[in-house]
Amino acid sequence: MKIIVGRGKGDSGRCDALALLFIEAELRLDAAGKAADRESGGAVSRLLRDGFEGKRDQVEVIPAGRSSRFGHVVLLGLGKKEKLDAESFRRAGGGLAGALAKRTVKLCRAALLPAEAVPIAVEECARALAEGALLRSYRFTEYKKAENDQGIQTLAIFGGGPKAPAALTRAAVIGEEHAYVRNLINRPARDLAPEDLAAEARASGRRFGFGCRVFTEKDLSRMGYHAILAVGQGSRRPPRLVVLNYAGGPKKQKPLALVGKGVIFDSGGISIKPAQGMEQMKGDMAGAAAVLGIIRSAARLSLRHNLFGVLPLAENLPGGGAQRPGDIIRTGAGVTVEVMSTDAEGRLVLADGIHHAKKLKPRAIVDVATLTGAAFIALGSHAIALMGNDEGLLARITAAGIAAGERTWILPLWEEYEEILKSEVADLKNNSWTREAGTICGGIFLKKFAGDTPWAHLDIAGVDWNEKSHPYLAKGPTAKGMRLLVRMLEEHAD
Ligand code: BES
Ligand code: MN
Ligand code: ZN
Repeated sequence: MKIIVGRGKGDSGRCDALALLFIEAELRLDAAGKAADRESGGAVSRLLRDGFEGKRDQVEVIPAGRSSRFGHVVLLGLGKKEKLDAESFRRAGGGLAGALAKRTVKLCRAALLPAEAVPIAVEECARALAEGALLRSYRFTEYKKAENDQGIQTLAIFGGGPKAPAALTRAAVIGEEHAYVRNLINRPARDLAPEDLAAEARASGRRFGFGCRVFTEKDLSRMGYHAILAVGQGSRRPPRLVVLNYAGGPKKQKPLALVGKGVIFDSGGISIKPAQGMEQMKGDMAGAAAVLGIIRSAARLSLRHNLFGVLPLAENLPGGGAQRPGDIIRTGAGVTVEVMSTDAEGRLVLADGIHHAKKLKPRAIVDVATLTGAAFIALGSHAIALMGNDEGLLARITAAGIAAGERTWILPLWEEYEEILKSEVADLKNNSWTREAGTICGGIFLKKFAGDTPWAHLDIAGVDWNEKSHPYLAKGPTAKGMRLLVRMLEEHAD
């Protein structure tokens, strides 16, 4: 789908579909609405009289009549005025793309509400509407052709004000990168060995102008990164550590380091997982994919930041060479870890990933990881579990999450929790079998490796996969964390 800036008021000219936005209990027709009503022989006002109320996520399509200049007319509800925010428009954009997915729509025009009618900036409305439509139009077609290649081809958004062009460019880039990230998460582990994901990173760097260095298993061994190596040693496809480097900020600006868990398949290893649902563990590299997508987006949007992306990549399989419960490994930081469960492998690869990030002397570290099933138990699928050691950083992430429609919720990392991961024989153990505070324990483990560097941890395990359809995210991977962190970078440039 192509997004363009509509010129003029959007109430004239031919199109294949016209979208009209409504606030609940304020069902007024603007000029475009009135014209559409006339063209549809009064069908719009009839719907407003009975049926359509403008409720959040409400979508009604009036199919194109033979004489209509506007083709299909789509009524989109934004919900109550008091609750109106960017997310309302993102959901409406999703509803629009969804409603027209099975029709042929070369050009769809959408007229935003006038600035005085909405509490947020018009360019934000434009951007959110576009983003919702773009995200909703994603399909994973690498192995199965799309049933149809219809839907909206060009979406022209009217009424976004003078800042609309820049806002819509951001929506378009983020929409494309979000699809790229979802393709990586959807891709079966068969076709995404650690080296394949490293190759994606390398090709991305060449294409968009950022550095990419790939450390092989030999390098990892030399550097003492035995945690990544231990997780990968049960697979024939060896681990990698990828370090991306985007230098878009002033020279004197200390970089931000993003670390993404890149377990390309998590069988659990010797502590093997139950069979049912294991196929979803091809998505255990969602954190790494998100970080790659963030760096690509930052480069494409020329964001004024110096960034590192650190991707520890490994495959967790129970092969003959696999690590065992009871093993003690020495991480790159010199901390020894007793492996209680080979299925608590994410914190192992991140231990070395965060340690490597620290060596790059960043101003802060943010990691993104599908770390604990307990995140879903605690928060369901409506919030990313957020933890860290720096209030300011956590506040910036929280705000960006609200703006991006990827909400977070902070969990504590009080030192009392450290007791749970104390080991008799090593500095730390990677799991206790007590079942208490599962997500927090993941955070407690990682905190040790972040040390005194400002650090935040996004556990996306509860939100990484949509089971039900959603206004703008299909069933399947959500790429959560990516849009949030791009947003944070946009809001805190320099
Ligand atoms: N990759 C999983 C977490 C996960 C679960 C992600 C469900 C997405 C959906 C992680 O490596 C894992 O296995 N975690 C264990 C931790 C435990 C052994 C401490 C878990 O959640 O059971
Ligand atoms: Mn696991
Ligand atoms: Zn895992």
